Amino acid sequence: MTPVTDPRKIQSSFDLPRHVGIIMDGNGRWAAARSLPRFEGHRRGVEAVRRAVRASGDLGISYLTLYAFSSENWSRPPQEVDDLMGLLKRFIRLDLADLHKQNVRVRIIGSRDNLATDLKALLQEAEEITGNNTGLTLVIAFNYGGRQEIAEAAKKLAVRAARGEIDPQSIDAAMLSDHLYTADIPDPDLIIRTSGEQRLSNFLMWQAAYAELVFLPLHWPDFDRPALEDALLQYGTRERRFGGLTSAPNAMTGS
Ligand code: IPE
Ligand code: IPE
Ligand code: MG
Repeated sequence: MTPVTDPRKIQSSFDLPRHVGIIMDGNGRWAAARSLPRFEGHRRGVEAVRRAVRASGDLGISYLTLYAFSSENWSRPPQEVDDLMGLLKRFIRLDLADLHKQNVRVRIIGSRDNLATDLKALLQEAEEITGNNTGLTLVIAFNYGGRQEIAEAAKKLAVRAARGEIDPQSIDAAMLSDHLYTADIPDPDLIIRTSGEQRLSNFLMWQAAYAELVFLPLHWPDFDRPALEDALLQYGTRERRFGGLTSAPNAMTGS
């Protein structure tokens, strides 16, 4: 394949990722570099979320998963945790109508156990209102941890086996996948992390098995459409093998 050099051609490139995951990192560093409080970095990060959603929809990406709050982020100071909860609530209240108008389907993955009642209700409302939309699926990973998700799936399988509903010998990778939050969502093809850190930090641990990883040096509040296009161009140059010998884009999904 001729490498795609013009971002405008990305749309027609056959290897546009179907599912992009983003580890939105660097809000604090963005703020620190400007002598601003961390909250300001998170607030500006929400604007980057809006840009990412719009650009992904425009470019024809089917699934965009944004890592918004990890299971481990509870260890931050209580004020910052409160700020992040508040920003998610505000984002849903302010943006839900607009997302709906953009034909975006919203899904939230993660544990709802420790969340405030009003936040849980808002998450449910966002999923219900947009449930029949047919454009971009925006997956928000909130109070999400990949290891916890896999442990939960194992627990569900164990309970079903104990009840005699399934034969333990029949448990395989596909069955475990079917018990994750993402059961009906294809695996990510591309995972982007901003801010230079090169790790997954418990994001989509199972699903990322064959994802291409792209690390962008900019901080999340500076993320925009050209940054997404840059990541897509890098993705376009990768040879995906899935353990085989030939380059076979989307070989795992057969599509
Ligand atoms: C990402 O920015 C937002 C969340 C993790 C919720 P950070 O808050 O991690 O910013 P840095 O990594 O401290 O710069
Ligand atoms: C990962 O970023 C979590 C989110 C982006 C929500 P962190 O900033 O929490 O990750 P570490 O602590 O640097 O690994
Ligand atoms: Mg960080």
